[in-house]
Amino acid sequence: GAPVEVDISTLQPGEMRTVEWRGKPVWILKRTPEMLASLPKLDGQVADPGSERNPDEFTPDYCINKHRSRKPEILVAVGICTHLGCSPSTKFVPGPQPSLPDDWAGGFLCPCHGSTFDIAGRVFKNKPAPDNLVVPRHMYLSDTKILIG
Ligand code: FES
Repeated sequence: GAPVEVDISTLQPGEMRTVEWRGKPVWILKRTPEMLASLPKLDGQVADPGSERNPDEFTPDYCINKHRSRKPEILVAVGICTHLGCSPSTKFVPGPQPSLPDDWAGGFLCPCHGSTFDIAGRVFKNKPAPDNLVVPRHMYLSDTKILIG
């Protein structure tokens, strides 16, 4: 499939947009400073905190960092659960929620078998999904234009 160009100039902090690339939903989330600050605190609760597993498949080398992104605030991830391919829903609600990690700052919840991911798409431990959400290859054409693929 052809690469997809996305203009993120109007994306607000905390806002997420979904675009289609190769028939898949790709999420572009502009994270708030609070969301970014939550990530290191979750390192002990996620299965692959450093995104070291199969980087060719899940995380391009330029996104192997603590926020899994090129720009700290902008997450680009394929919105498909790495378990059996459902599309997780978003949960950006801060604070404890039933059956979710206590200090979960929000992220993604797969409705099919309950896998949860943080706002970097890192899967929580002991969930059916084995791996972090895929970060597709992408680059910035300008400060506010992303080319996915
Ligand atoms: Fe997402 Fe099974 S498909 S948890």
